[in-house]
Amino acid sequence: MLKGRFITLEGGEGAGKSTQLAYVHQRLLAAGKTVHMSREPGGTELGEKIRALLLDQANTAMHSDTELLLMFAARAQHLAQLICPALSRGEWVLCDRFTDATYAYQGGGRGIDIARIRTLEDWVQGSLRPDLTLLLDLPVEQGLARAGERGELDRFEQEQRDFFERVRAVYRQRAAQEPGRYRIIDAAQNIEQVQRQLDAALASVLGESFT
Ligand code: TMP
Repeated sequence: MLKGRFITLEGGEGAGKSTQLAYVHQRLLAAGKTVHMSREPGGTELGEKIRALLLDQANTAMHSDTELLLMFAARAQHLAQLICPALSRGEWVLCDRFTDATYAYQGGGRGIDIARIRTLEDWVQGSLRPDLTLLLDLPVEQGLARAGERGELDRFEQEQRDFFERVRAVYRQRAAQEPGRYRIIDAAQNIEQVQRQLDAALASVLGESFT
């Protein structure tokens, strides 16, 4: 079966994800790939509505299980409507966050049992996992200092430092457990150095299909 590649980009607050996502997108286009750039939560009309609910700081009463289920509800729609059809046409999908973020934020940050997340992952995704996950890793203090330069904070950005320390710890733990899929990118370096690391990650993991 024809199958495109599924690449995800992850990272904590202030890691430069938007800038680097645009860079990876441009590299893949330059390599002649048909690439769908998307994001989670979101990526479809319905998913974007769910995203708005999740990020709205007015939703202070949202239970952590509700949050978890909404993440996977948006993901189910995204997979059905965009990701799976694109991959089966042999096209590439570049996604700003995916299920690793659920492990990091809802598992690490909120403290939800990992077994529950794994059950939802298997149910919603079947055997689909990203082919490559680029983790922009940065000490929490530095990330928050960078992110603090932005305007109004959403429901996640309002969390305290220890929440983001747990998020980072889970990301790093998962990267260590799955070195074949994950590449840790040192996001404390300057933009050009980060982009050199991204180039190496794309070349080494995707090999000839990248060139
Ligand atoms: P963004 O700011 O990178 O677009 O992501 C939106 C927020 O959603 C971010 O704070 C991380 C959070 N998030 C989760 O908590 N769980 C998830 O599964 C995903 C995809 C994002």
